[in-house]
Amino acid sequence: MIPTVSVAEIAQYEGQEVKVHGWVTHKTGKGKLLFLRIREGSGFIQAVIFRPNVGDERFAKAKSLTQESSVILVGKVKKDQRAPGIPGGYEIDVSDIEVLQIAEPFPIAPKAHGVDFLLDQRHLWLRSRRQWAILRIRATVIREIRNWLDDNGFVLMDTPILTPSAAEGTTTLFETDFHGTPAYLTQSGQLYNEANIFVFGKVYCFGPTFRAEKSKTRRHLQEFWMVEPEIAFASLEDLLEIEEQFVSHVVQSVLQKHPQELELIERDVNKLESVVPPFPRISYDEAVRMLHAGGFPDFAWGGDFGAPHETYLTEQFDRPVFVHHFPTEAKAFYMEPEPERPEVCRSADLLAPEGYGEIIGGSERMSDPEKLLAAIRKHNLPEEAYDWYLDLRRYGSVPHGGFGLGVERTLAWICGLPHVRETIPYPRLLDRFYP
Ligand code: 4AD
Ligand code: MG
Repeated sequence: MIPTVSVAEIAQYEGQEVKVHGWVTHKTGKGKLLFLRIREGSGFIQAVIFRPNVGDERFAKAKSLTQESSVILVGKVKKDQRAPGIPGGYEIDVSDIEVLQIAEPFPIAPKAHGVDFLLDQRHLWLRSRRQWAILRIRATVIREIRNWLDDNGFVLMDTPILTPSAAEGTTTLFETDFHGTPAYLTQSGQLYNEANIFVFGKVYCFGPTFRAEKSKTRRHLQEFWMVEPEIAFASLEDLLEIEEQFVSHVVQSVLQKHPQELELIERDVNKLESVVPPFPRISYDEAVRMLHAGGFPDFAWGGDFGAPHETYLTEQFDRPVFVHHFPTEAKAFYMEPEPERPEVCRSADLLAPEGYGEIIGGSERMSDPEKLLAAIRKHNLPEEAYDWYLDLRRYGSVPHGGFGLGVERTLAWICGLPHVRETIPYPRLLDRFYP
């Protein structure tokens, strides 16, 4: 029996006859020689077809293969330093070939295409090496997020996707119908996690979240994945220490596990090597002073930062930077005001370097029931929908806090991508939800 092998483990089969299943990405050749590049799933490999070895009939079959044709190759694994591919260094010296399908002319040729065209063809665009590399890194980012939290005592809680109330403001809700009652796709699992900490102390939820953002920017998706840890008895200072350990772990794991993918997408890894604790911390007040001195003299105290402001601030540091104590008015209703200075709150955003902007938003939560009720009223939120949330402050209320990290923005930064659209298999953008 000839073993069917994956390209990722091809080195173990040096000198042996193997079967490789895959798709043809390129075909070149001259005379009696034909070179196929094969995408197999776990990697890419070159197959060499030499006419005297395979005979005329098989050679003709190989010659008829088009881009994306599906094949099963049989051949010997040969070591060759120069052989292209990922992991590379090996090729298949083909002895037999089975054609499963000759593909129709593939719409995405190995040349440059416009982004709109590629997004229309997203189901096919995924087959490109660049998308392969990015989405493999995505899978690792998600795995390492879970690993770090699981290894550090956080308990996974699945929070609902259909919800009766807003967590992050009423202007970006996707409304749906729950048997006659309006329901909303979740913007965040945070409020539920605030209930879960009373049972488990440290929890996290990790799932898709939805924001009907009217903005068409390179950082906004309508549907994105967010991990949200929540911790009983945690102060803002505790949160920042957790966040810097957590983010560094994810970045350093990607560096360690994906050198080839990072090289393929031409990421400057020097910029990621410096991502280790401690991360700098600046207050919102200091950030405003930096903006005033740095070409934004008109930035008014009190507003949230726009992309150009975040870009300027992050360019001043070689690793992510925390901005803490935002104006209370600019932030969500549940954030704890600073007792001595209630116009700012015990919140912090983590801004990624190189202009990638906010990847984490977090805060201490209001723990006093009266203050929280007043905040709910001030934000014109429907009181009834938050009655259960107020219960959390009635029965054993404790100081607590948490944060949310957006997977796609984090991945865009780690991969050095100009836009979040490539960070998720099927992006949902303001003007697009096909395919
Ligand atoms: O700052 P946000 O809105 O915070 C929350 O949702 C809190 N409930 C989190 C918490 O404390 N548990 O969002 C958190 C992160 C942002 O920093 C960003 O990375 C990402 O979620 N994010 C988006 N990513 C892509 N597209 C969007 N439209 C996003 N909105 C937020
Ligand atoms: Mg935010």
